[in-house]
Amino acid sequence: MPPGAPQPQQMPERQPIPGVKNLVAVASGKGGVGKTTVAVNLALALSKLGHKVGLLDADVYGPNVPIMLGTTQEPLATMDKRIIPIDVAGLKMLSMGLLNPGDKPMIWRGPMLHSVITQFLRSAQWGELDHLIIDLPPGTGDVQLTLIQTVAVTGAVVVTTPSTVALADVRKAIEMFRQVNVEVLGVVENMSTFTCPHCAKPIDIFGHGEGAKTAQAYGVPILGEIEIDPRIRIGGDTGKPVALQGENAIGAKSLYDLARAVTTRLDQLSGTPSGPSVQID
Ligand SMILES: Nc1ncnc2c1ncn2[C@@H]1O[C@H](COP(=O)(O)OP(=O)(O)OP(=O)(O)O)[C@@H](O)[C@H]1O
Ligand SMILES: [Mg+2]
Repeated sequence: MPPGAPQPQQMPERQPIPGVKNLVAVASGKGGVGKTTVAVNLALALSKLGHKVGLLDADVYGPNVPIMLGTTQEPLATMDKRIIPIDVAGLKMLSMGLLNPGDKPMIWRGPMLHSVITQFLRSAQWGELDHLIIDLPPGTGDVQLTLIQTVAVTGAVVVTTPSTVALADVRKAIEMFRQVNVEVLGVVENMSTFTCPHCAKPIDIFGHGEGAKTAQAYGVPILGEIEIDPRIRIGGDTGKPVALQGENAIGAKSLYDLARAVTTRLDQLSGTPSGPSVQID
């Protein structure tokens, strides 16, 4: 290399989080496809299935996890200033929304974003967890990069709707994880077939089956298809996600199937079972 030429960017070593077995990022190329809904319900379903679960809201500008879990509890810190995730609905949880509640927007540039995400990941006291689920903001930007460079992400769950526009973006998300050597655990088709409550007929509002086709095209599993169900939205809006009511609650079955598909994939990757999968009430 000639003298003075720019050095190739060194990728920092990706460290595991001590005590945390699996780090699962929930991502999408496009906004509004249901990442937070999937991340929250996935975390709750895994917890109900007997796993120890943490949930990190990495959407610093638009943190929705506290609303979906119905909490405004402020996290405390240890004597050595390590932030302690709050306990909510059986999960350990951290979100910028707990530190900056209300409607005041976070107006931060990249380096500050990097710093807060790094602190949430590296210096928070997560304790012993089977899974830390990370709800990402949409796209392939700063937070995604910081996450990937800072910790050893076990795998990514990529959420899409069956519509073509969302699918064009899901391909970008899959490609991003591939380029940075993060395993794509699979694709989730959210807002899949709606069942009419009056005539029980299935209605494909955004289409159906496109998520599976994309997954197949990229050689990754389809982890689940989550129906459009007003109860899923209401659960999120009122701080009582459907998965909290257990697998037999209406609207929860596909979310528990997703949780099992995710643990199966994680078990395949690690070669060891990641814990129980019998529901504990
Ligand atoms: N399967 C579903 N059935 C009904 N409503 C849903 C479903 N999934 C998500 N929603 C609703 O769609 C809206 C967007 O969902 P959500 O906030 O989870 O998306 P997101 O991808 O996290 O958005 P953002 O990109 O802004 O972070 C919410 O009102 C949510 O309740
Ligand atoms: Mg979100």
